[in-house]
Amino acid sequence: MTTLLIRGATPYGEGGPVDVLVRDGVIREIADRVDADAGTEVLDAGGLVALPGFVDLHTHLREPGREDTETIETGSRAAALGGYTAVFAMANTDPVADNAVVVEHVWRRGREVGLVDVHPVGAVTVGLKGERLAELGTMARSAAGVRIFSDDGLCVADPLIMRRALEYTKALDAVIAQHAEEPRLTVGAQAHEGEQAARLGLAGWPAVAEESIVARDCLLARHVGARLHVCHVSTEGTAEVLRWAKGRGTRVSAEVTPHHLLLDDSRLSTYDPVNKVNPPLRTATDAAALRAALADGTVDCVATDHAPHASQDKDCEWSAARPGMLGLQTALPIVVQTMVNPGLLDWRGVARVMSERPAEIAGLPDQGRPIAVGEPATLTLVDPAGRWTVRGADLASVAANTPYEGMELPGAVVATVLRGALTARDGKAAK
Ligand code: DOR
Ligand code: ZN
Repeated sequence: MTTLLIRGATPYGEGGPVDVLVRDGVIREIADRVDADAGTEVLDAGGLVALPGFVDLHTHLREPGREDTETIETGSRAAALGGYTAVFAMANTDPVADNAVVVEHVWRRGREVGLVDVHPVGAVTVGLKGERLAELGTMARSAAGVRIFSDDGLCVADPLIMRRALEYTKALDAVIAQHAEEPRLTVGAQAHEGEQAARLGLAGWPAVAEESIVARDCLLARHVGARLHVCHVSTEGTAEVLRWAKGRGTRVSAEVTPHHLLLDDSRLSTYDPVNKVNPPLRTATDAAALRAALADGTVDCVATDHAPHASQDKDCEWSAARPGMLGLQTALPIVVQTMVNPGLLDWRGVARVMSERPAEIAGLPDQGRPIAVGEPATLTLVDPAGRWTVRGADLASVAANTPYEGMELPGAVVATVLRGALTARDGKAAK
């Protein structure tokens, strides 16, 4: 295998620049100066920050079923370009990933593409219907080795089914990732229930529909002694519930999306469905509380909820549009804008929320590792001074539904390295 010399990057943005020598996928040497042998590929990384490769616990890759919006190949490209070295592909595909055949297909296709480790999420219930548990053990023991189960898109609303699911996943050393939405409180919901929705005449999705399920599931997880992961936390009240539950030793972790850190429901006044997402954009107060919760560790990590949609499902009236927005290629810049630039996180903190904590939550042994000799060379190189203007049409995804169209964002992923192989460099994926 080739040797790669990463010249002049600063690990975690701390101390001075160093040279990092990589051979056979492993970091072999880190020193002020490493000389390159003939045949060594040299990556000039002067001025760049080196971080462990990012891990996304929440990606919709849409294959099988909606390859007109994303495929495992195009989504893998978007992931590599966004600095990701592992992604978790949500189960709400068509057919649903509720059995070993589908999860093994997703896992194999991810390996064939080879740009990012694609880990399928298994559905909790058959067909995401919330009625009968899917074969969690069979998916866990399949070649895909499923360790995260979720009905995302929908909530596991029945408390008895949720309890049983937690019991099974405890035995399997797996985790349930809950899309927390009490469906009885969100019938017909179109936007965050509040002043803005009232003004626009959109039916409300109240914060309590999320918070009540998170509280219930924290209590259930503690009762069972199982682990719970809360998807896309969107309200200040959910952060308060998590703080309380963690304070009493509940085994709960949580993620926040870049869009809930940056955007709020003031964006809705144009009625542009590109801003329609589930859970909905909340108030500016909620977004500020989420930034604080991510900074203090109440919320463990950032996850994209990358949700590609076809133009006919987005360029239509608000009520008919599907919820969701692209996220893989814009995640790091938004974390820089909302967390790094205001001083809420340093680069060490970015490594924690984008890489280390998600790898720990998912139980990935070779992701989110320290940048040190003997460790896997699975890295992201970021230009902290870089700026780029988002153009949906230029993103690697098949779909183009980005809410950041035309925005100039700070911080650019310059290169991504997966076990010593460059998967993206200067805005181009390796395949
Ligand atoms: O906005 C969302 N889009 N939220 C979800 O829970 C599902 C996702 C999707 O699959 O499009
Ligand atoms: Zn969801």
